[in-house]
Amino acid sequence: MKKITTATLRKMKQDGDKISTITAYDASFAKIFDQAGIHAILIGDSLGMVLQGQEDTLPVNIEHMVYHTQCVNRGVTKTLIISDMPFMSYATKEQAYSNAAKLMQAGASMVKLEGGEWLVDTIKGLVERGIPVCAHLGLTPQSVNVFGGFKVQGREKSQADEMIAHARLLEEAGAQLLVLECIPSKLGKAISEAVSIPTIGIGAGKETDGQILVMHDALGISCSYMPKFSRNFLIDTGDIKKAVELYISEVSNGNFPGNEHIFN
Ligand code: KIV
Ligand code: NA
Repeated sequence: MKKITTATLRKMKQDGDKISTITAYDASFAKIFDQAGIHAILIGDSLGMVLQGQEDTLPVNIEHMVYHTQCVNRGVTKTLIISDMPFMSYATKEQAYSNAAKLMQAGASMVKLEGGEWLVDTIKGLVERGIPVCAHLGLTPQSVNVFGGFKVQGREKSQADEMIAHARLLEEAGAQLLVLECIPSKLGKAISEAVSIPTIGIGAGKETDGQILVMHDALGISCSYMPKFSRNFLIDTGDIKKAVELYISEVSNGNFPGNEHIFN
């Protein structure tokens, strides 16, 4: 099968085909997910929580991300590989360029950054230099201390309108994918309609163009709490590859997320 690219995902949005993505941090799981037919793998800085047992993603650094990106890359043949830029690794444009280069050289095909309007120049600069960007809005975990906890974002109209405006600016700046985390379903739908790049939701309702889950949540093996928006697909299947195949088909046919997984 042909390698999945940002163009593949864009076409899926245009055709109304739902995109399934999941995190991975090593070659063995990455290989299973790749063979199951997942459309993209994210080496998330969630590894701080699910691999390192930290309380949030702030202790994760660029060396951790490079190491796990290299590991995942060795297990993958066709899936698109996206790597998270960790906390404070893109505080300035220059930092963003040199740290994104490290992730691309480790095997990523795209980098992900958390934030809105303030990232416009950084994203422009990265794309001009050949680095595809996935943006991330809503509950952006690197800002947990600003939010005062892991809380649903965009519940107020002014906040929601601002998020829609930021999504448009990020697309204009050149972002080719947009993760939406923990926002009301209605807002997930509105943002997905407002931009032409694919949106990938986690706790963002049924109407984003795709979904993403942390692999440990999708398999029910996390040392952290199980978020409301996740589902244990291993329980129904008893086999890791079949669990991910079920996840992909449930996303594709609109059964996941269910009403119990969304915020109104
Ligand atoms: O780090 C991560 O796993 C993420 C996803 C939850 C989107 O950013
Ligand atoms: Na992340």
